[in-house]
Amino acid sequence: MFLKDPKAISLLKKDHRTVDKLFAQYEAAKDNHEKVDLVQQICQSLMVHAHIEEKVFYPALRGKVKQNLLDEAFVEHDTLKDLISKIDGRGPEDAHFDAYVTVLREYVHHHVKEEERDIMPAAEASSLDMDEIGERLMLLKTRLEERISEMEPEADLRHVAVLQMDGRGIRHH
Ligand SMILES: [Fe+2]
Ligand SMILES: [Fe+2]
Repeated sequence: MFLKDPKAISLLKKDHRTVDKLFAQYEAAKDNHEKVDLVQQICQSLMVHAHIEEKVFYPALRGKVKQNLLDEAFVEHDTLKDLISKIDGRGPEDAHFDAYVTVLREYVHHHVKEEERDIMPAAEASSLDMDEIGERLMLLKTRLEERISEMEPEADLRHVAVLQMDGRGIRHH
């Protein structure tokens, strides 16, 4: 019998697939404007996704999933944000722009693989209500996206900084 993933898992996995697709589009892109637009979408999606995981998903799992897995995930998010902050403000004319995006893609791939292989199954096997956690993830995601959409378009990649207002785990650069 086919069982649908509970809400929290399906929402997070859907985000993962969306970012995969954006990275693939970036790789195929020829035009610099298109590249900048895609990188902006990638960075924004990753920042929102990392934020809702850090604020809602990971804390809910505390005590239910091995702590070292959660600790590693937090540290990996930090590294992801460092990479994003290095990409922020650069353009395709920068000699290392493509390299940064490629490294970000590889790193995201690694992180997502571990999350889906280790953390999510443990979360699903726990007594947690993953549908309720999914509702909270969705609520926060919607709120963050609304705030981003209210920002000036010329804020460019830097608009991800809006998320820094929420503090924890999101760092200034
Ligand atoms: Fe994550
Ligand atoms: Fe994730």
